[in-house]
Formats: sequence, C-alpha cells, structure tokens
Amino acid sequence: MHFTSLAATALTLLVAVNTAQAKKVLSWDDAYTKAKALVGQMSLEQKVNITTGDGWMMGRCVGNTYPITKPDFPALCLQDAPLGMRFADNVTSGVAGINAAASFDKEAILARGVYLGQEFYDKGVHVLLGPAMNLGRSNEGGRGWESGGEDPYLIGVLAAESVKGIQSEGVIATAKHYILNDQELNRKNSSSNADERTLHEVYLWPFARAVEAGVGSIMCSYNQLHGTWACEDDYTLNQVLKGELGFKGFVQSDWSATMSTVPSANGGLDMTMPGDITFNSNDSYFGKNLTDAVHAKTVDESRVTDMVTRIVAAWYKVGQDKNFPSVKINAFHRDEAEIVNVQRDHKKLARSMAAASNVLLKNSGILPLSKSTKSIALVGSGIKVSSSGINGKDACADHGCLDGHLAQGWGSGTADFPYLIDPLTGLTNALGKGVKIQTSDSDWDLEAAATAVEGADVAFVFSATDSGEEYIVFDGNVGDRNNLSLWNNGDNLIKAVADANKNTIVVINSVGATLMPWIDHPNIKAVLWPGLAGQESGNALADVVTGAVNPSGRLPYTIAKEVTDYNVKPDPKFDIEYSEKLLVGYRWFDHAKIEPLFPFGHGLSYTTFSYSKLKVKVSKAKKNADVSVKATVTVTNSGKVDGAEIVQAYISFPESAGSPPQQLRGFEKVFLKKGKKENVDIEFTKTELSIWDTDAKAWVIPSGKFTVHIGASSRDIRQSASFNL
Ligand SMILES: *[C@@H]1O[C@H](CO)[C@@H](O)[C@H](O)[C@H]1NC(C)=O
Ligand SMILES: *[C@@H]1O[C@H](CO)[C@@H](O)[C@H](O)[C@H]1NC(C)=O
Ligand SMILES: *[C@@H]1O[C@H](CO)[C@@H](O)[C@H](O)[C@H]1NC(C)=O
Ligand SMILES: *[C@@H]1O[C@H](CO)[C@@H](O)[C@H](O)[C@H]1NC(C)=O
Ligand SMILES: *[C@@H]1O[C@H](CO)[C@@H](O)[C@H](O)[C@H]1NC(C)=O
Ligand SMILES: *[C@@H]1O[C@H](CO)[C@@H](O)[C@H](O)[C@H]1NC(C)=O
Repeated sequence: MHFTSLAATALTLLVAVNTAQAKKVLSWDDAYTKAKALVGQMSLEQKVNITTGDGWMMGRCVGNTYPITKPDFPALCLQDAPLGMRFADNVTSGVAGINAAASFDKEAILARGVYLGQEFYDKGVHVLLGPAMNLGRSNEGGRGWESGGEDPYLIGVLAAESVKGIQSEGVIATAKHYILNDQELNRKNSSSNADERTLHEVYLWPFARAVEAGVGSIMCSYNQLHGTWACEDDYTLNQVLKGELGFKGFVQSDWSATMSTVPSANGGLDMTMPGDITFNSNDSYFGKNLTDAVHAKTVDESRVTDMVTRIVAAWYKVGQDKNFPSVKINAFHRDEAEIVNVQRDHKKLARSMAAASNVLLKNSGILPLSKSTKSIALVGSGIKVSSSGINGKDACADHGCLDGHLAQGWGSGTADFPYLIDPLTGLTNALGKGVKIQTSDSDWDLEAAATAVEGADVAFVFSATDSGEEYIVFDGNVGDRNNLSLWNNGDNLIKAVADANKNTIVVINSVGATLMPWIDHPNIKAVLWPGLAGQESGNALADVVTGAVNPSGRLPYTIAKEVTDYNVKPDPKFDIEYSEKLLVGYRWFDHAKIEPLFPFGHGLSYTTFSYSKLKVKVSKAKKNADVSVKATVTVTNSGKVDGAEIVQAYISFPESAGSPPQQLRGFEKVFLKKGKKENVDIEFTKTELSIWDTDAKAWVIPSGKFTVHIGASSRDIRQSASFNL
C-alpha cells in the first residue's frame, strides 16, 4: 500500500482563517448614520426603486434592484446559493450546509463563510442568498440538506459563523427562509402553525443567532403563518424580528413570495424579489404600486424611508460603498460572463471540510485500511461521476437528478462543480498502484456486484438518496423525499455485496437520514456517512479511509430503526399544525424513550476519548440577568492515534420548565495528540439557560435544578452535574 500518512492531521491548520484580509464591518449605528444621510437626499420614487427588483431574468443576477442617480446608489446583485455561487463558472462548490453542520467545527464553518464571501465579492455580488436555516422538522423535507439538521442550537452556530465569515469579506448574508418553511409539499399555499413557545425556542432560535452575528438581510418564506403570508406577517416580521430581536437589516421576499402591496409594506417587507408579481409578469407589488400607496396614504412614506434605510445601511455596514467590484456573473447568459477565476486555494478548505464532516457510523476496526491491503472493490453508481457530466447538463438543470456520484442536492441551493472528484478517482490516487481496484458501477446488476467484490480484501458499496426544491420533480419526488429508503436498489445492492465479501464497508451519500435494514449483516464491518461532500468528495473520502484524516464528523440528525419511530412527516394538509411542539428530532426520541439506530451527535473516531473531572461554576451578577455557568471537563485522547473529539453539552431544565429531557446548548471540537489531555470549557449564558415564557412574552431562566450532561453524543453521556439557578 502506497499511501504515506496514517497520522491524523490537525484540521485546524488547514482551515485557519486569514483574518488579515477581512474587511471592516461597521456597527449598525455607524451604518445607519451614513445611510440616513444618503437616504435623506432621495425622492420617494428613488427610495421605492431601491426596494424593488427589476424582474425575473431581467438582470445579470437572480435578483437585481433598480439603480438610482443623484444621489447615486447602485443596482444590487443578489445571488444564490448557500453552498457556492449558482449559475456561475470558476467558483468553488464545496460541502452542503448539512455537512458544515456535521463538522461541529465552528472554525471550519467560519472559514467556509470567509471563502464564500471572497468568491461572491470577487464576482461583484452584493447579497449572498444564504445561509439556509430551516429546521429538519421531518427527514423527508426536500431542502433540509441546505441547512443544519434537527437541532436549533447547531443550526444557530452554522448560521452565526456563516454570517460572520461572509460579511467579513464585504458581502451581505441572507438568513433564510423566515419562517416555518420546513417542507416542500404545498409550500406556496399551506399555513405553518406553531405556538409561540415552539416558534421561539425551536424555529426562531437560529435566526436570533444570525441577528446577533449582524446579518444584513433576512428572507421571508413562501408559506403562510396562521393564515397570513410570511412576507406580510406583522407578528413575525415587525413584532418578533424587528422588535424583540432588534433586527436592523432588510427583509427581502423569497422569489415571488410577495402577495400584496399595502399589507406587505406595513407588515414588514423591505424589498420584493425578484420584483415582478409572478416570473416575467412585468408588473410589481412594489414599484409604482408602492409609490401610489404612499400617495393614497395607505402606506406612510416613513415606512418606505425605513425600508430603504435598512437596505442602504446593510450596504454601508459591509463596506460596499468603497470600490465594490462590478458584477462579473451573467446568471442567465453564462457564456457571456467574463471569465474571472475566484477559487484561490479554496479547494483545500472544500476538501478538509468534506473530510471533517464525514461521519463514521460503525467500525469494527477495518478502518482505516490496513497497510497490508492488496485489493479493494468499489460497487455502485455512486463510485463515478455521471456519464452525462459533473453538472448533469440540461436534463438535470439545478442538479435535479440522481445520476452518478452525489455531492449536493437539487434546486436553487446548488452551485455547479468546477470539477468533481468521485470516489473511484479519489481512492485510486490515494492508494496508489500497489492496490488493485475492481469495480462495478451498476446498482441493479447484483451478479456483477458479487463478481467484482469476490476475493477483494475489502469491498466498498455506495448508495444514496436525493431531494431538493419542489419546482423540480425527480423520480416522483416533488422536492421532499417520498420515502426514507435508499434509492436505486440500494438495500439489495448492499446485501448482495455483503453476502459476497466478508469485509464490506457501506458508504452512503445521502441528503438526510435513511433506513438501514442491512445494518446487522455480519459482513458489514463499517459504515461511512460522507453526506453531500462537494467537489472534493472523493479525495476527502480517501483521506478518511486511509487514516490521513481521523474522522470527527457527527450526525446532525437522528437515524431511526424504523420509519414509524419518527413523529413528523411532510403534512399534506393546508394547515400544518406543529403539534409536536418542542419535541423535534432527538427531543422526541428522548421523550418517548425510543432507541435510535444512530443518535443525534453520534460519530466514531479511530481513537478513543475519556472524560473526567466535570466541574460546574455558577457566576451570578447582581441582578441575575448576567448569569453565566461554566462547565469544565477534562478530555483525554486515550487511544493510539491523534484525533479530534466533539465535546457536546446537553442541558436538562428544571422540571417546572416543561422542556424536553435534554437539549444541546454547547459543543467544542478539540484536537488531541494521542495520550494528551485538555480541559474543555463550555459556557452557558442567559441565552442557553432560558425558555420562552408565553405569559411574560420574554426569555426567562426558570428557577430550580439544572443538569448539564457532557458526552460524545446525545446518547453517550459521560459526565453529568447539577446546579441551581
Ligand atoms: C425607477 O425605475 C423605473 C424602472 O426602471 C424607471 O423607469 C424610473 O425612471 C426609476 N425612477 C427613478 C427616480 O430612478
Ligand atoms: C472557467 O469556466 C469555464 C466554463 O466552465 C471553463 O471552460 C474554464 O476552463 C474555467 N477556467 C478556469 C481557470 O477554471
Ligand atoms: C397548493 O399548491 C400545489 C403546488 O403548487 C398545488 O398542487 C395544490 O393544488 C395547491 N393546493 C391548493 C389547496 O390550492
Ligand atoms: C414581459 O416583458 C418581456 C420582455 O419585454 C416579454 O418577453 C414578456 O412577454 C412580457 N410578459 C408579459 C406577461 O407581458
Ligand atoms: C399593481 O398591483 C396589481 C395587483 O394588486 C397588479 O395587477 C398591477 O399590475 C400592479 N401595477 C403595476 C404598475 O405593476
Ligand atoms: C423510495 O424512493 C426512491 C426514489 O424515488 C425509489 O427509488 C425507491 O424505490 C423508493 N423505495 C421504496 C421502498 O419505496
């Protein structure tokens, strides 16, 4: 075997952020001072034009506002997607949001935000349409992979670090989709109905963290909320977002999610996108309609001034008044765009992040591959890129196909690959000429699969599931997945390989949790879960398989034994009642005492970690408002190789709080050389220790006994300690 380094690599070295390059982000106060001075010179028509998109496919970006002169304010370019630039060439297409979350690595998520910000800046894009932050309320939800899984705290970290990274490079981030837009089924006409506490503690939480991180824009969603369109909902936009959370940036509509002029303007919408009422209808709810509404006194001019001040302030905040580059993309005429390569060395980050987000679900010790490995077999259509090309071309616009190796889902949340390293290429390069590789790339020819794996030292079998946005229907899946089984004969293929080779390793590229009826097959010695790994997928897989990277990815969702163990599915009713309330994801499994197959937060390493000496220190300031609780635990790498542990902290609230049994409220990724130990601190403030009190309409720390559980997953708690508040 020719691969060189079996030592674990310190990923943090690869993901170090070059903060020296970061541009200066202004405070909202300073940004508002500048914005007010400029907006003060604008006429009503000028202000209205800045709030109005010029219509679908009318400009170079997926969204473009009208420019004004005297005073001057440019047309803003708004462009997808959360994982990379859509409809553009020479850009990086790295891991999906769900993988960023699975890394449980704040520095890596920040570094990903920084490289996204750099690429959008260099292409002259003012507003990046991400991060996606909706909750994986059901596993089937089609766009779950764009976001961070089933836990609000984890999505909150993904959101905050992404926003900080993107905006540090001079690009406005967009927290989306606000709010309760958690399934594709009927997304444009259903009403998501959650009670106030559920809304705050589960669904608002990530948006609150994005607002704290200074996010410049928030996108309101297609769905209704208790029967009111999200983009004209006074309660969630004016009262909650701009009131309670103090959001100072602008609310933009999802594409054609604006449904009115007056209720939208008064309900809190600040910008309509892409501007026309329906795509290419050449009219608008804003534009002349908004000007007319001001003249008719149904919308106050001060509201329009507020809208535009929010937009202009976000622009100043990230420094776009200073020599911002001209727009280099041409979304709908790509061959007419200038060739500007903005990729720098971002492929290194794309690779380290893909490796860092690979979850080792099961391992009998077969991984990393032994140096004596002489032959391996690779089976399944996922081992190679599609024969129709890495981006699927016309038949699969916006990646709306599962054809060959899967490294992102489908819809507007996609970015074309500049290249895609498939597993065959990645493993061939990493293992070198000394290892013989046999392949079968059919999912259906079980005989060919059995023949390919016969006699191989180790057999890898690949399978996948896919999902995306509802405007693309693939294999009968209208965005959401129709089932939680593997696609394309996956279960049969895995069984056929395992029957024929006693050292079978299953590799699943999935948008989310799947059922694993074969998990107890005695020949299945390991299961790897690389998720949606982006352009460097195959190289990153090889890094983990060879042990060049010691895996530390963790599941951002629960994998159940049976589909019936889950309590939420996409709901076909017009009124979608969030009747499970706080019991989403593992909170439900804990509450109902259901044993998952693989719990939230689970992921193995090639080494082992022990936990000891948990101590909890409570500091209360005079008024109890600034309470801070610090948990300190000693973590030791007690195994044989270097590696990183994800130390997770779950809090149990006092019984009187009526909270789920435990909730993630902190985590740290710590890299430890073998034999080394470190004290890890996790701090909880009022944010982490509060519940939403519906009577007080406020975040309140319940009084009584709290318990902090520290461990390696939600079901692998190693140390617990209680404290009173
Ligand atoms: C606003 O935009 C419309 C549409 O492009 C344009 O006709 C009009 O002149 C603009 N008004 C101002 C004041 O910029
Ligand atoms: C830029 O993208 C174009 C179109 O995909 C491709 O032909 C070209 O090779 C790319 N150039 C670089 C430097 O990546
Ligand atoms: C809701 O929208 C979907 C998809 O656009 C459509 O198929 C369905 O008929 C609509 N339902 C109602 C009640 O309007
Ligand atoms: C809108 O304008 C475009 C371009 O001028 C034209 O192609 C299209 O047919 C118009 N749409 C409608 C609904 O009038
Ligand atoms: C104003 O809005 C109405 C729908 O309320 C629409 O029919 C009309 O075309 C809009 N006017 C303009 C000038 O866009
Ligand atoms: C689940 O859906 C996929 C994709 O549409 C399909 O290939 C597969 O056959 C379905 N599985 C089951 C068990 O229905």
